[in-house]
Formats: sequence, C-alpha cells, structure tokens
Amino acid sequence: MKGVVLAGGLGTRLEPLTRVTNKHLLPVYDKPMIFYPIQTLVSAGIREIMLVTGGRNAGDFLRLLGNGEDFGLKAIHYAYQKGEGGIAEALGLARHFVGKEKHVVILGDNILGDDISDFVSAFEKQKSGAKILLKQVEDAERFGVAEISNGRVVRITEKPKNPKSKFAVTGVYMYDQQVFKFIDSLKPSQRGELEITDVNNAYIERGELTYETLNGFWTDAGTFESLLRANILVAEKFGNLKSAHA
Ligand code: DAU
Repeated sequence: MKGVVLAGGLGTRLEPLTRVTNKHLLPVYDKPMIFYPIQTLVSAGIREIMLVTGGRNAGDFLRLLGNGEDFGLKAIHYAYQKGEGGIAEALGLARHFVGKEKHVVILGDNILGDDISDFVSAFEKQKSGAKILLKQVEDAERFGVAEISNGRVVRITEKPKNPKSKFAVTGVYMYDQQVFKFIDSLKPSQRGELEITDVNNAYIERGELTYETLNGFWTDAGTFESLLRANILVAEKFGNLKSAHA
C-alpha cells in the first residue's frame, strides 16, 4: 500500500515559531516533527511515500529527508501545495502518485505511540471504502468528532461546540480510489478549506467507512499546548524523561 504524508498549511497558530520555517520541521524531542508520521507509515510496512508540502520553506524538506535514507527508503516523492486550501486539497495533489491503489494518509503534525500495522492489514482485507482511527480525548471540540451508533460511525462533525462524543478523528485515514471522486465534489467550508471530514462523511453516507480505536498515545502538534504535549509524550516513551507529569 502507498502512503501520503500531508505537511502543507502555513502553521499560523504557531507564530512566531513558524515565521521562518515550516511547522513540520520544528523539533519534537530529538527529531523534526515530520519524522514521526513518516516513521509511523514505514513501521507499518509502507515503502512508497509521497510528502505534500507548501509555503516558503518547502525546499528544506528535500534537504532534511533527501531520498528517505533515515527511514531505509529508496525514494520519497514530493508534491507542492500552493496556499492553504485544506487537508482534502493537499491529498488531491497525490492523485497521480496513488493511482487506483488503496492508500494510507497521515497528517504531518500527528504523533502516535501505537504501531498501526494491524489496522493497515485490516484495511488491506476490507473490500472497498475507508477506515479511520479514533482516540478518546478530553478536548474533542478541537477535532473532527465521531458519533457512534450500533458499532458504526454515523456522522463526523468538524470542531463541534458541543461534541456528541469524546472520540476524536485522528489524522490517519485509509482510503480506496473513490476518495479523489469525493474530493472533486467538495465545496470550501466556512474556514475556506476543502475538509477531510466532508470526505469521511461521504464514505459514511455510502456505508463504507470502518473505524478502529487507538490504544497508545496520540496527539497533534499544531498549537503551543499540543506541541509541548507531543514533546513530553515522545520524551517519556522514547527518551529519558520519566516524570514530567509528576
Ligand atoms: O489532528 C487531527 C485533526 O486534523 C482532525 O481531527 C480534524 O478533523 C482535521 O480537520 C484536522 O484538524 P486541524 O484543524 O487541527 O488541522 P490543521 O489545519 O492543523 O492541519 C493538520 C495538518 O494537515 C497540517 O499539519 C498539515 C496538513 N495540511 C493542512 C492544511 C490546512 C495540509 O497539508 N494542507 C492544508 O491546506
């Protein structure tokens, strides 16, 4: 299966940290942020990866990642997103790379403690459609929130004021080739973006979206609080930091 890492956007919520660099190049403990989502895909056996990025510092990714040697890859494919048209727009730029294959998409600011190999294998066996990964959180209003009924996700709402559950939709998405048809039919949301939540709801309407729940830690890193949290979680799991919460 192919993998797509989305690292576009302008990172304005992290100003002034992002004034002269891209959010995904900022450090998370001992590595640049973008290393973590790439490693998540590689650890799940994905070897063909496209990175979609944008902004003024896109060339730095090439210098940092090269051909993927740090991850044991032979090549990394790159695409450039002009502006900040949304996650679904960024994914649309990977259409020619993905072709008709099933693929795994991960947001460049999502950091997971779990290995996702089993979820990817389960999706390989799924005949068609999509699979998302959920995580129970206390601040669901910051995310896409899944409403679950009879073991199925029946609706996802993007950043609801009053979340109907604590299940955040994490930035790991598995799709078949229908995704590009759904992206083509999207209209920009109120925040002017093509929303990945609208894509996932299109799969739900067709009865073709499955989900799994993450057990290990999961965080985004796009705000000062979540960036700090990401650093602490990674340092606790992979480094020597034992008692940051004590
Ligand atoms: O982290 C999970 C959440 O990510 C989901 O629960 C939400 O449903 C989803 O909309 C998204 O929410 P955010 O508003 O936090 O996404 P953000 O704008 O921070 O973008 C997350 C990543 O997506 C970013 O690090 C890079 C990529 N991206 C984003 C935009 C807007 C792009 O590649 N291009 C873009 O234009």
